[in-house]
Amino acid sequence: MKNSQIPPGSFGLPVLGETLSFFFDRDFSKKRYYQYGPIFKTYLLGRPTVVMVGPEALEFVLSSHMENFSWREGWPANFKILLGESLFLQDGKEHRKNRRLMMPALHGPALPNYVATMEDITRSYLQKWEKQQEFTWFGEFKQLTFDIASQLLLGTPPGTEGMHLSNLFTTLSNGLFAINPLPLPFTKFSKALAARNQILEHVTKVVRERRQNPTKDALSLLVQAQDEDGNTLSEQELIAQAVLLLFAGHDTTTTMLTWLCLELARHPEVLHRAREEQLKFADVNSLTLEQLGQMPYLDQVLWEVERLRPSVGAGFRGVVKEFEFKGFYVPAGWQLYYSIALTHRLPEIYSQPECFDPNRFSPQRQEHKQYPFSLVGFGGGPRVCIGIAFAKMEMKIIAAHLLRSYDWEILPNQSLDTMGIPNRPKDGLRVRFKRR
Ligand code: HEM
Repeated sequence: MKNSQIPPGSFGLPVLGETLSFFFDRDFSKKRYYQYGPIFKTYLLGRPTVVMVGPEALEFVLSSHMENFSWREGWPANFKILLGESLFLQDGKEHRKNRRLMMPALHGPALPNYVATMEDITRSYLQKWEKQQEFTWFGEFKQLTFDIASQLLLGTPPGTEGMHLSNLFTTLSNGLFAINPLPLPFTKFSKALAARNQILEHVTKVVRERRQNPTKDALSLLVQAQDEDGNTLSEQELIAQAVLLLFAGHDTTTTMLTWLCLELARHPEVLHRAREEQLKFADVNSLTLEQLGQMPYLDQVLWEVERLRPSVGAGFRGVVKEFEFKGFYVPAGWQLYYSIALTHRLPEIYSQPECFDPNRFSPQRQEHKQYPFSLVGFGGGPRVCIGIAFAKMEMKIIAAHLLRSYDWEILPNQSLDTMGIPNRPKDGLRVRFKRR
């Protein structure tokens, strides 16, 4: 294997490599993909890096050769400090044990118990928005999804404490990609660290309460979880996993919902059809999981938002075992970066990939079914997002209510350009909102 060539590409400048273009050029991966193909080398964040793009490459990384890669050694160092010893940064046996213990809280029989709470919290926001008439959707969805996450995952009811916690998570997120963290109090990284300490204080208190008196939230299920070998989660593990679930469980959903509302406002024909589908639920007061499963066009719309506006545009791994892909050799010790966003825009898979077109997922076209690992907004393989069912259910409930009873229009004089991680419309999508 060592006689094979390393992938084409450039390591860029000494020390910095291509890190600056990576952060500041939105077409960084696209330009190189068209120059070099689905695997190329670069130098990012102080490490030689291989970038992999396209369904075949993603199947290799996410599924068939996943034992060659480490999550912990992949994500930038700040992640390890800010997200601690949580599922997202665990590997091998430890990861498998914890994932098995955590799955029941976010899948199967646990889910129907979450529907009513998701709907109640959504209704309270709809009433608030109706009164407000004009607002910025990114900020509002952030509060709504955080209220849902803290109520269902931690068992903490919505309120002012929730707002404070949600802001702490924003500060924490801002530190994840901060370059060259210095131990100075005003850097993004130091602020993120201080936010993490406050979050830990809160979550530790809640974990101790749930251990004493379990209730019906996901954390209580984690507290009681036990596998067939008698393994359970320790207090430290429960705290780390609860922080991760809160973190991973609201920013992503927020951006997808914001893009959903933007695309629906821009495409009246899609809005109209999605609304027609909701007519059969017009008399339904409280939605059930079964009814949520009877909205195929809304599924198509949400897949298209996931494709065109993925909340997580890419993932990192550490190469722990050398490998060969398409005749190119990658040594252990390199960093790997797989691109979700670019894979979703490949014209080999998706016709007119820059257009918002939910019909590409219709039963007749099914563009994503040509090759496995073409639609990977939630990752894929054995480590696909553990919150996928929870997130989809939440987004469908919110979307169903918006479609059935409300109209909104995008206010003028704002930037809808994409920015940030997770990416969102620059001004957050300011809208005028009213009951239909
Ligand atoms: C629209 C919403 C969401 C999107 C787009 C999303 C996306 C993703 C992606 C792409 C990954 C895989 C990352 C990788 O390959 O390295 C992932 C993993 C993960 N997600 Fe989500 N996610 C969403 C919602 C949620 C929710 C609601 C939760 C929790 C309640 C959650 C918890 C997690 C966790 C814990 C992992 C790590 C799983 C593992 O490594 O075993 N996510 N998510």
